[in-house]
Amino acid sequence: MKVIVFEDMHAVDRFVVQRIKEVIESKSCPVIGFATGSTPQGVYNGLIQKYQKGEVSFRQVKAFNLDEYVGLSKDHPRSFAKAMWETLFSKLDIEEENIYALNGVADNMEQECQRYEKLIQENPIDLQLLGIGMDGHIAYNEPGTSFDEGCHVTNLHKESIESSLGYGFDHLEEVPRQGVTQGISTIMQARELIMIAKGEKKAKLVQRMVKGKVSEDFPSSIIQNHNQVLVVLDQEAASHLEEEDYERH
Ligand code: PGA
Repeated sequence: MKVIVFEDMHAVDRFVVQRIKEVIESKSCPVIGFATGSTPQGVYNGLIQKYQKGEVSFRQVKAFNLDEYVGLSKDHPRSFAKAMWETLFSKLDIEEENIYALNGVADNMEQECQRYEKLIQENPIDLQLLGIGMDGHIAYNEPGTSFDEGCHVTNLHKESIESSLGYGFDHLEEVPRQGVTQGISTIMQARELIMIAKGEKKAKLVQRMVKGKVSEDFPSSIIQNHNQVLVVLDQEAASHLEEEDYERH
């Protein structure tokens, strides 16, 4: 695992944008896994700028979303599918049929999970972006989730429900109590992972993710077992690591 620390979040964003561009340019049909949440928004703005300047095209890209709220359709203003569409995909030249997401309002969620898992097996993800949740989750793999799980429905933990207030919900009562998510085993099959964390509030979580025991109690720790993973941090998020734990850029 390589941990890279940048002076500020803008330098983090520039680095990740560049890496995504390289992956897109190195493949005829690149498959990128996108994450929602506040952390990657600067990266998405950077990708939009690069596209607008004609420096990158998403015409051949297939995009897979990580997770969704159960009970929200892709057109619901608070769904992750809608957030990805509004903040990124609608502003790029990506083909709409190449955008894949879990359907939070499927009649049969088990079948929906199987459908998505199969789609990902058929379109292996070249690069998966990740963030870390306040309870250590990746995607909506909450503490206690088996590392062997594929796509599945999950009960959201308190920290995840509270963090959702940052995603446009006005009241906790409005936040769905369940999510549907790529599993740890799904995520670990991606060829490359980029985990991004920014800010002091993530510092202790980052320390546990990078240096703690790999344990289902702290799902993001699993990335220590991936053979192609970059952890990209700003100085605040790295403030509980030792100098020897990372490269400074
Ligand atoms: P955040 O969420 O980027 O809004 O902090 C991260 C996550 O829950 O994966």
